[in-house]
Amino acid sequence: ATTLGASAAEKGRYFGTAVAAYKLSDATYSGILNREFNSVTPENEMKWDATEPTQGQFSFTSADQIVARAKANGAKVRGHALAWHSQQPSWAQNLSGTALRNAMVNHVTQVATHYKGQIDSWDVVNEAFADGGTGARRDSNLQRTGNDWIEVAFRTARAADPAAKLCYNDYNTDGQNAKSNAVFAMVQDFKSRGVPIDCVGFQSHFNSASPVPSDYQANLQRFANLGVDVQITELDIEGSGTTQANSFGTVTRACLAVTRCNGITVWGIRDSDSWRASGTPLLFDGSGNKKAAYTAVLDALNSG
Ligand code: G3I
Repeated sequence: ATTLGASAAEKGRYFGTAVAAYKLSDATYSGILNREFNSVTPENEMKWDATEPTQGQFSFTSADQIVARAKANGAKVRGHALAWHSQQPSWAQNLSGTALRNAMVNHVTQVATHYKGQIDSWDVVNEAFADGGTGARRDSNLQRTGNDWIEVAFRTARAADPAAKLCYNDYNTDGQNAKSNAVFAMVQDFKSRGVPIDCVGFQSHFNSASPVPSDYQANLQRFANLGVDVQITELDIEGSGTTQANSFGTVTRACLAVTRCNGITVWGIRDSDSWRASGTPLLFDGSGNKKAAYTAVLDALNSG
C-alpha cells in the first residue's frame, strides 16, 4: 500500500504517532495524520497533570478531542500514561504513603473508566525501573508507597476497562541489558501470579550514543515468548539521510519479524513536532515532506 497505516494493516499491524491536541488545527499536521496513521497516542493530554490538575477534579477536554478525531478516522488509541513518576500534578507530588496510593488507584480508575472501550492499549505504568546496571526499581514517590504499586495499578486498570490491553512501557529496555532484564523478570513474575499484563512497550528513543541495539529483535522476541504482546511505542532516531533511514528500516523489520509485535508508534509527525529541542528524528521534515526515513519504513512494511 502507499501509506504507513495501510501498509502496516496489510501486515496485521498498526502504524501510529504521538499527537498533540493543540496541533490538530494545523492543516499540514492534520493532513499527514489523517493520511498516514491508524493509531494515535496523546503526547501529554492523558497524563496525570493534564487529566487531574486538582485532586478529584478531572479534565478530559484535550484528550477527548484526540480520541474523537481518532474515532472519526478509524484509528486506534494508545492511552499514555496512567501511573508515572513524572508529569504528576503538584498536589500528587506532595502526597506520600496511603494517601498517594489511594490517589493513584482513584486516578487509574477514573481515567480508565472515562475511556472504557475506546483504548486499544494503555500504558498503565511508565518508566518504573532505574537506569544503569542495578536492575532496581526507580526511586519515586509511587515506589515509596510499596513495591506492589505496579501490580495494583494493573489490577485497577483491568477492573476499570477489561477490554483494553494493559502495557508496561519504558526506555533503555530496547536491547538486552540489566534494565530490560529487570522488566523481563517482573513480567515473568506477573504472568506466573496472574497479575493482568498484556503487553510491553519499548519506547525506542535512539541517537548516536544509544543506537538501535543489535539484539533489538531478539529482545522483543524474548518478551513475546513470555506470552505478552510487544509494541514499539515512542520511536524516534536522531540523525539524517541514509544512516537514519537504515535504522528506521531495521526497527520496522524487527517488529514485522516478531509475530506478537502489534505495531509501531513514532513520537511525533514532523521533525519540528519532536520533543527533542533540536535534531531531525522523525519521518517528515519541518515542512511535512517525506524523508528518506519515511521511504525506508514504507518499503519495509511493504516487503515480503
Ligand atoms: O503545558 C505547559 C504549558 O502550559 C507551559 O506554558 C509550557 C512552558 O514550558 O509547558 C507546557 O508543558 C510542557 C508539556 O510538554 C506540554 O507541551 C512541558 O513543559 C514539557 O516538559 C512537556 O514535555 C513532554 C515530556 O514528555 C514531559 O516529560 C513532551 O512533550 C513529551 O513528548 C514527552 O514524552 C515522553 C513520554 O511521555 C514518556 N517517554 C519519554 C518521552 C520523551 O521525553
